Amino acid sequence: MLSLHCRLLDGYHDEFDAIVTSFDDASFLDSFLALKKHTQAHFAHEEALMKQYNFQGWHEHYEDHQKILAELSYFYEMAENGRQLFAKNYIKNGIKERFDLHIRNLDSQLALFLNMQGVE
Ligand SMILES: [Fe+2]
Ligand SMILES: [Fe+2]
Repeated sequence: MLSLHCRLLDGYHDEFDAIVTSFDDASFLDSFLALKKHTQAHFAHEEALMKQYNFQGWHEHYEDHQKILAELSYFYEMAENGRQLFAKNYIKNGIKERFDLHIRNLDSQLALFLNMQGVE
């Protein structure tokens, strides 16, 4: 995963990577739930920081978080309803690219901003 030179954000992104890499096919729903919970906490923390420091790009960033969370919920529900193939395909082939795009486009700006505020 791309480093943004912000310990806080990089920490979440490394943990995300580790969860995706360690996905257990035998307990796929449990792994997926752990990923959802981690992502909710990760995004909520970024959003709290954006508010705290009055980050101007807050809205655009928040909207992309919402889209990713909706995507995760969509595939999680699919897996819950017995359509695991689609959800497994998303975890294997879609999610990392989606996160990578978010990190490059939006988290990178936030990391620069947070560095200027003295947040590591
Ligand atoms: Fe992030
Ligand atoms: Fe973000």
